[in-house]
Amino acid sequence: MSAAASRSATERRDELIGVYRTASSCTICRLSESRTKVVFGAGNADAELMFVGEAPGAQEDAQGLPFVGRAGQLLNQLLAEIELRRDDVFVANTLKCRPPGNRDPLPDEIESCTPYLHRQIELIEPKVVATLGNFATKLLTGSQTGITKVRGTPQIHTLGVRTVYVFPLLHPAAALRTRSLVDTLRDDFAKLPALIAGPPALRSQ
Ligand code: URA
Repeated sequence: MSAAASRSATERRDELIGVYRTASSCTICRLSESRTKVVFGAGNADAELMFVGEAPGAQEDAQGLPFVGRAGQLLNQLLAEIELRRDDVFVANTLKCRPPGNRDPLPDEIESCTPYLHRQIELIEPKVVATLGNFATKLLTGSQTGITKVRGTPQIHTLGVRTVYVFPLLHPAAALRTRSLVDTLRDDFAKLPALIAGPPALRSQ
């Protein structure tokens, strides 16, 4: 049993608040110069299901909260359809600060920020980490295979110290651009309750 697994939910939550405080004043990479607010992530600190998107956009940067724009509204709707609320899950991004103009994250920015994501996964202890879109999926699976090929099928990965199901999903923003993809995303969301209720992910490597 790992040190994290032996901690109570309250201890893990308190540690997560400590990580939040550290991230809130982070200046490791250049994004700290252009950000308005750090977007640490939000939701249930003991969630079985965690979502990971790419990086905050303009609205998230202004509010300091993840997925508050149109993509976030679609996320909320799809969650409601499987009888979950935002408070039941934890939503974060691979990067905690907005890249200027929503450009792609740079390698050193990813390297600086990944330890925050791994600590979040360690402390929240989700069973399932659903990656939203190509960027988060490629980063967390360590594979360059595109999202259209891998979406909707769980994989087992060790992220930091925790072995989880990584469940690749289309990015809600992509579904908003191509409305026919909303049904694809909905079909994949429908698989989540069984994955959450099933056995935990076991180390495959
Ligand atoms: N897109 C993302 O990937 N993350 C957000 O928080 C908002 C939009």
